[in-house]
Amino acid sequence: MPGPVIIAVDGPAAAGKGTLARRLATALGLPYLDTGLLYRAVGRRVLDAGADPRDAAQAEAAARSLAPGDLDRGDLRGPMADMAASAVAAIPAVRAALLDFQRVFGRDHGAVLDGRDIGTVVFPDAPVKLFVTASVEERARRRFVELRGRGVAADPAQVEAEIRDRDAQDANRPVAPLKPAADALLLDTTALDADAAFAAAMVMVEGRLEKG
Ligand code: DC
Repeated sequence: MPGPVIIAVDGPAAAGKGTLARRLATALGLPYLDTGLLYRAVGRRVLDAGADPRDAAQAEAAARSLAPGDLDRGDLRGPMADMAASAVAAIPAVRAALLDFQRVFGRDHGAVLDGRDIGTVVFPDAPVKLFVTASVEERARRRFVELRGRGVAADPAQVEAEIRDRDAQDANRPVAPLKPAADALLLDTTALDADAAFAAAMVMVEGRLEKG
């Protein structure tokens, strides 16, 4: 019997990773961790302290003292929280502080984890790695619809500009940048709705698990 199954779901902002990873976890009976929430909670704590999310010492202290309740806060999404998360995520000491939590989460029972560096850094030996993308226009459209659904006023051009900024920040940082692992399967969801993306991902997951 192989060890616990880890399924890594990486990709840029608003590509549909979260919805997909959650559905995979339910279908496969695995725990699910949204690792972006960890960075969001760290960014939020730094903002709450009145500090700059790019301040490495403040951000590291926030990451080291993160408590489970911090992940349940209702204010972890929105433009400020998005950019604060992306800023603290570029700080190596923050990433190091969050690494153990992610590894321990998947260690005993396996897990589906979504993020940016699950397949490259957190679980480089994961048997299944998906890299989920969509065009920037489609991702901006989805994020806009999501914001509107939550009653948040947003400007489509502004939403797209923020997604582009965050992509650039996440992909160009020196530590654990956003990029597909060499052995990741690419899933472009530009023309797929959530059901079609899930069906395509299940075929990929089953193919990889059979091989292993
Ligand atoms: O997946 P998300 O949009 O909630 O992630 C928020 C930010 O956290 C994202 O801009 C980059 C960072 N992040 C990361 O660097 N590594 C991860 N594994 C998950 C998120």
